[in-house]
Amino acid sequence: MPLRGTLTALGDKSITHRAIILSALADGEATITNYCPGEDCLHTAAAFQAMGVPIEIALDRLRVAGKGLWGLREPDSIVDCGNSGTGIRLLAGVLSGQDFFSVLTGDASIRRRPMGRVVGPLREMGAVIAGRRGGELAPLAIAGARLRGIAYSSPIASAQVKSSVLLAGLFAEGTTSVTEPALSRNHTERLFDHLGIPVTRNGLTVSLAGQRAFAAKDIAVAGDLSAAAFFLVAASLVPESDVTITGVGVNPTRTGILEVLQEMGAHIELLNPRVQAGEPVADLSVRSAPLRGVTIGSERIPKTIDEFPILCVAAACAQGETIISGAEELRVKESDRIAAMATELRRRGAAVEKRPDGLRIVGGRPLQGAVCQSHGDHRVAMSMMVAGLVARGETRVEDIACVATSFPGFDKKLSGLLTPSGQG
Ligand code: S3P
Repeated sequence: MPLRGTLTALGDKSITHRAIILSALADGEATITNYCPGEDCLHTAAAFQAMGVPIEIALDRLRVAGKGLWGLREPDSIVDCGNSGTGIRLLAGVLSGQDFFSVLTGDASIRRRPMGRVVGPLREMGAVIAGRRGGELAPLAIAGARLRGIAYSSPIASAQVKSSVLLAGLFAEGTTSVTEPALSRNHTERLFDHLGIPVTRNGLTVSLAGQRAFAAKDIAVAGDLSAAAFFLVAASLVPESDVTITGVGVNPTRTGILEVLQEMGAHIELLNPRVQAGEPVADLSVRSAPLRGVTIGSERIPKTIDEFPILCVAAACAQGETIISGAEELRVKESDRIAAMATELRRRGAAVEKRPDGLRIVGGRPLQGAVCQSHGDHRVAMSMMVAGLVARGETRVEDIACVATSFPGFDKKLSGLLTPSGQG
């Protein structure tokens, strides 16, 4: 059955985390509209509520009464970041500069993921952090400290690392700068601009002067391209589909998926380009089209980083070979996404070779229905649900509670497009 209709993009998860954090640290009240209602972002909101920031959570908006840069109070229990790498790493930056003690943790996946990448630079700034394996693993216990600005050269292109250090920089004496090997998503910098926090960019370096208060301002969150990606691939693969997704963020640090799908032969058009809270946004129109294999090397990894699970599904259904390399970061996401996608696609009859830094997929074999596992990873779960639309026979995806970390109601939105009336 084709996918048809129009849907509004879900609010961007990365931007929502940042909007909550910066609104909590601002002077005055702000309303955040089109926020991402996923559990990840709600954990970040709960963390600030536990630190004395009034946050009203309504269906269509968050109302945050900012406490100013120095207004947080000590949380009286452990702060649970759930499944969210962005939540725990960005909060580690904020909490390092406070004058109180805090403990950050999360679910089993979070407690396996590397934290040394933020703990290292934060300690250079003067942060006092303890954690399992010398601070490599959560829980992280943070004794607030006076921070000093540093010039940090990050070995990985990671927006979480960059943002964690820049957020700590808000509390530090002097200037904090981060240089990355390639540009990672720049939502933090754009939100700084939106809120009037002075930040300078010079090539791959971002710098910020610390200890400057700033005023709250309303934030209309752009739609999440990473969430829209599942519909872009689904509509490309299912014949006779025609879907429009309105208000999708098209920040060039995120649009790898559009470039790759277009190179694979997808029919995607960007309509009504506009700017929303400092972020470029457009409506995306997608019609089904035959796809062909593609080569994705390291230069395209940062701006495509969250889309590999669904791109693997596209590649398995495309004619010819797809090679993804330079993507070792995929091993330390919510799951080991190289292993998870290889296992799940092979289960369905696809020809997939796992490599240390990516995958080789020979597309074109029809996918078979199967019982699939999510590996506790929302993007793997949603990808396998999309694969189910084009597979022969029935698909069952098990352990799908994780979908709610980013996209509650995904299955309803997807099946809504499958109805003849196409109500998204
Ligand atoms: C994110 C950055 C990326 C991305 C994650 C969200 C962010 O992680 O994979 O889903 O909001 O900063 P890294 O910065 O670790 O690559």
